[in-house]
Amino acid sequence: MDREPIIIAFCCNWCSYAAADLAGNSRLKYPPNVRIIRVMCSGMVHPELVVESLSQGADGVMIMGCHIGECHYIDGNQKALARSDMITELLEDFGFEEQRFGIFWLSSAEPERFVEAVSDMTERVKKLAQAG
Ligand code: FES
Repeated sequence: MDREPIIIAFCCNWCSYAAADLAGNSRLKYPPNVRIIRVMCSGMVHPELVVESLSQGADGVMIMGCHIGECHYIDGNQKALARSDMITELLEDFGFEEQRFGIFWLSSAEPERFVEAVSDMTERVKKLAQAG
């Protein structure tokens, strides 16, 4: 890959977006590859959005939500988790490697976890490019 990968991160408003915000405010360093899209809940991210993001040129897609049991809409993150297998299957159907998708849970007080997740995802996608 002769360019930096682009990672789309769908972040729920209440936890992961707040963690990303805190990471920025705390001046934590993380790869600049991530493009954050704020959603109210991880359960709102339709599987088609993941496929569409990759089809439109993203190299990886993350869904980031509150820890299981802490969703502000009760069970949105459980719905997101239940859909993640379907997303993996969809990706295969569309010819995308499953490593291009990741689902992560974090609280608003875990900016380091946000940094770690984004870094891991970026590395994962870069390895795919090297392998391909
Ligand atoms: S509000 Fe964060 S995952 Fe539902």
